[in-house]
Amino acid sequence: MEDESYEILYKVVVTGDSSVGKTNIISRFTSNEFAMENKATIGVEFGHAQVQIPDGTQVKVQIWDTGVKLPPIIIFVNNPPTAGQERFRAITRGYYRGAVGALIVFDITHAQTFRNVEKWLSELHEHADTNMIIMLVGNKTDLKTNREVATDEAKKFAQKNDLLYIETSALDGDNVKEAFEQTITAIH
Ligand code: GTP
Repeated sequence: MEDESYEILYKVVVTGDSSVGKTNIISRFTSNEFAMENKATIGVEFGHAQVQIPDGTQVKVQIWDTGVKLPPIIIFVNNPPTAGQERFRAITRGYYRGAVGALIVFDITHAQTFRNVEKWLSELHEHADTNMIIMLVGNKTDLKTNREVATDEAKKFAQKNDLLYIETSALDGDNVKEAFEQTITAIH
């Protein structure tokens, strides 16, 4: 970032199934943009942003986006492999190294993406710092009529697993800033 006024740098990874809205949550947060077309994330892609948390500290956030299975060299920089793939272990460790926070995103209109949160969680527990702050994010709240995951169910799961919980819409921008701010405040 050209602006050198930040005091602290935190690495936050954003994980979750394909198409749940990770890229759009990030772009909504970093540049207030949303893209309607579903382009799978290919290549290096991370955003950054600066936020001020309640105690007045300026925090720079580096956001690492995860994507689909990609050539190893790109995976090494940015994308963790599919959970559990033995030969990618070293790469996975590198991806999570130094991360102090994570957002695990699921799509409230696709129950399977919520069931898979368990998988992303074990991936984090296996590779990341045990003190990591994890925010569970139920995205696409604008699609109310298609909801397949009840808020209470997701909240219960979050409580049981020591996660923060928030529901967002990258499309209308609801709670996106809050998701990052609450995560960073908890880290700090
Ligand atoms: P991968 O890069 O494949 O891992 O996907 P991703 O998790 O980054 O999802 P992405 O941000 O590319 O969004 C997938 C699709 O969902 C796109 O068509 C988006 O326009 C749409 N989408 C993302 N967030 C929302 C949302 O909050 N509401 C609605 N209605 N659609 C969304």
